[in-house]
Amino acid sequence: MGDKKIQETTEAQIAVHWQEEEYYYPSTKFIGQANLTDPEVFDRFSLDNFPQCYVEFAEMLTWYKYWDEVLDTSDAPCWKWFKGGKLNASYNCIDRHLKDNKNKTAIHFVPELEEERVDHITYQELYVRVNEFAALLRDFAGLKRGDRVTIHMPMSAELPITMLACARLGVIHSVVFGGFSASACADRIIDSNSRVLISMDAYYRSGNLLNHKVNADEAVELAAKEGQVVDKVLVWQRYPGKYSSETPMVDGRDYFVNEVVKDYYGSRIEPEQMLSEDPLFLMYTSGTTGKPKGCQHSTGGYLSYVTAMSKYIQDIHPEDVYWCMADIGWITGHSFIVYGPLALCASTVIYEGVPTYPDAGRSWRIAQELDVNIFHTAPTAIRALRKIGPDEPAKYEYHFKHMTTVGEPIEPEVWKWYESAVGKGEAIIVDTWWQTETGGFLCSTVPGIKPMKPGSAGPGVPGIHPIILDDNGDEVTQPGIAGNICIQNPWPGCFQTIWGDRDRFVDTYFGRYCKNPESKDWRDWPYLAGDAATKSADGYYRILGRIDDVINVSGHRLGTKEIESASLVVEEVAEAAVVPVAHDIKGKEPDLYVSLKPGYEASDEIAQKISDAICEQIGKIAKPRKVWLVPDMPKTRSGKIMRRVLGAISNKGDVGNVMTLANPEVVETIRTMVQG
Ligand code: WT7
Repeated sequence: MGDKKIQETTEAQIAVHWQEEEYYYPSTKFIGQANLTDPEVFDRFSLDNFPQCYVEFAEMLTWYKYWDEVLDTSDAPCWKWFKGGKLNASYNCIDRHLKDNKNKTAIHFVPELEEERVDHITYQELYVRVNEFAALLRDFAGLKRGDRVTIHMPMSAELPITMLACARLGVIHSVVFGGFSASACADRIIDSNSRVLISMDAYYRSGNLLNHKVNADEAVELAAKEGQVVDKVLVWQRYPGKYSSETPMVDGRDYFVNEVVKDYYGSRIEPEQMLSEDPLFLMYTSGTTGKPKGCQHSTGGYLSYVTAMSKYIQDIHPEDVYWCMADIGWITGHSFIVYGPLALCASTVIYEGVPTYPDAGRSWRIAQELDVNIFHTAPTAIRALRKIGPDEPAKYEYHFKHMTTVGEPIEPEVWKWYESAVGKGEAIIVDTWWQTETGGFLCSTVPGIKPMKPGSAGPGVPGIHPIILDDNGDEVTQPGIAGNICIQNPWPGCFQTIWGDRDRFVDTYFGRYCKNPESKDWRDWPYLAGDAATKSADGYYRILGRIDDVINVSGHRLGTKEIESASLVVEEVAEAAVVPVAHDIKGKEPDLYVSLKPGYEASDEIAQKISDAICEQIGKIAKPRKVWLVPDMPKTRSGKIMRRVLGAISNKGDVGNVMTLANPEVVETIRTMVQG
């Protein structure tokens, strides 16, 4: 069963979806200052002007050498954007701003502990710190252009410094979300063949200083077992000069960055002139099989795209204070905390901890103190903030002009609270639909041009031409009918391939609808996003959810197969099946059904052991709501586990007709067990 398998969008999935809502219009005040207000942008970016239209995005950057060709399709579907062009991402995010803005804050780092002061890092200081760390990476760690480095770090100013230092040298960074386990980190070290791991000793989460360095030791050990040797672990310190972890440093392998970097004080590193099509980073994401996919993003195409999206859709001006609450360890953080805002010379906020720590007013105090005017978060955070502190925003003196929601569909009710309470009726909202693979936005309203519609992402952004296809590859033209949303054209932000697995890349994203695999014409290669969607009569898209085995938990993407494989590692487990259950804050939660091998009795200990195994192998975010130890899985006569039946039971829905199953009687047993 490959990535190609698609499940139908069930009637139920569509039925639970909400009704059409009224438009909300941007204020004249917003339009008066917006970066993009010319509706002709949609003509400029029509398919007739493809791919030439994208030169407008590339020209937002500073190039050492202009490209020879806007789009090279000769290696379809591995598109090469701005081919032959040369640039450096670190130069574009730092050096080019120094002449006029060296004293401006690039990064506001907000520690979780409120008694610790915010650290304001100017562009000049960012320049110095990135150069010195790049010198260390080159001369101490021996890294060079094209090498891969795994970075397992929490939210800190040192994380973008590390990423930008890599970019300066042309080293491909692979950032692993700090909350992921050592084992997940090891998988990524192995897959990317990293021989250097960059970590941090500790960080705060809900008021506790967590030992993070311990993960580095474990990850290195696990990687070594699979033959991938990490010879250097570079450890940043939460409190420079002080070690905040109990885990010993390994002699000859582990080094404190803050000590070693002293040898590089004053160093300046000439940015490497990278080809536009050279990879900038890898970002792993979940798919249909257990093995995460290393999405390979390019330098020129990616940076052009996120810069343009930050300017046009996020409406970032250099004088804005922009706060995106995502974690830098996800694509949202890469594109919309680090690369996009810094390329535009904005001030970007990095918050270490939990948005509701120590209380429900914390986020709004941060907004007030830094005078944040652009705010970016996910429905899961909005739901949590609304639940624990619906009246908190009004107590603080801040004013957003612009707010984003991203990561999962947002319920109109929640959208309206976001608009009126958090936005105080003054901010426009963009609901941006996109993916790790796509680098930047696919659907969203252009905030100064199109009205908002609660619960709907909006039309394709300029240059993106979505289409809804049915299972036969025909376009679904009737409004409100669900199908598979695809993008008809390539775009510069799209990832180039899956690291080391081109076949999986072609198969997963293009296999389903490409009729001629030999074709070099981009028109033959619609991109399959993996979401079901509907299009309304006004051309706005609503995203219904994944059509593959991916669950969206708190806006984080988890593969059901990943969770199932993690539980199968437990000795007693015979079979495992994961289904999504609705949750009022997280959106979805995984529910795990397990049958045991003969000779084992179901017990709380076994259930706990399975749950622990999942947290250990993937991370706490994958922890199941409940581990149900069932006598047997409901199966078809051919032996296929009926996940749909389990999903209906978990969600208290209708299991439908189960009489054709091989073991219909087990359905009632499981239903009683789960629903009581
Ligand atoms: C999946 C991608 C995009 C960065 C964060 C998640 C879902 C994303 C929306 C939205 C409805 C959304 C889709 C998509 N999704 N944005 N605005 N409305 N659904 O990136 O982890 O790669 O997940 O998140 O299902 O395929 P990701």
